[in-house]
Amino acid sequence: MNEAPAGMNQELISAATRVRENAHAPFSKFRVGAAVEDESGRIFTGCNIENATYGLTLCAERIAIFKAISEGSRRFKRVAVVADTEELTPPCGACRQILWEFCGDVPVVLANLHGKTETLQLGTLFPRAFDASFI
Ligand code: THU
Repeated sequence: MNEAPAGMNQELISAATRVRENAHAPFSKFRVGAAVEDESGRIFTGCNIENATYGLTLCAERIAIFKAISEGSRRFKRVAVVADTEELTPPCGACRQILWEFCGDVPVVLANLHGKTETLQLGTLFPRAFDASFI
C-alpha cells in the first residue's frame, strides 16, 4: 500500500487547504484545493477555476497536475484533495483520468477542513483505466 509518513500527507493537505482559498467558484460556491508531490518532494497546488460558460470550468486537481507538468515534473508520489464537506470529496471522473495518465496508481489523500482524512489508491478510485498501454 505505499503508505507515507503522516507528516508528508499533512504537508500536502496543508498546501491544498491554503490554495483552496484562491478558488474562483462564484457559480457553485464549492471551493476545492489540490496538491501533488513529485518524486523530488516538490509540491504543486491548484484550485478550481470556474467560468461563466460553466463548461470551461477546470477542477483543482487538473490545475495542480498541469502546473506540475508544465514546470517539468513527470513523476509523482501522491495527491491531496481538500474540500469543505463532511463526506470527503473525491476527484471527478475527468480528473481521475488525467491523474492516472501522469501519476498512475498513487495514494490520493482526501481531507476536509475539520481534520478528517482518508487515503485511497487511485487504482481503487479508477479501476480498469484506459491508458497508453492500449494504444
Ligand atoms: N471540483 C473540483 O475542483 N474538484 C473535484 O474533485 C470536484 C469538483 C470543482 C469543479 C467546480 O468548480 C465545483 O467543484 C463544483 O463542481
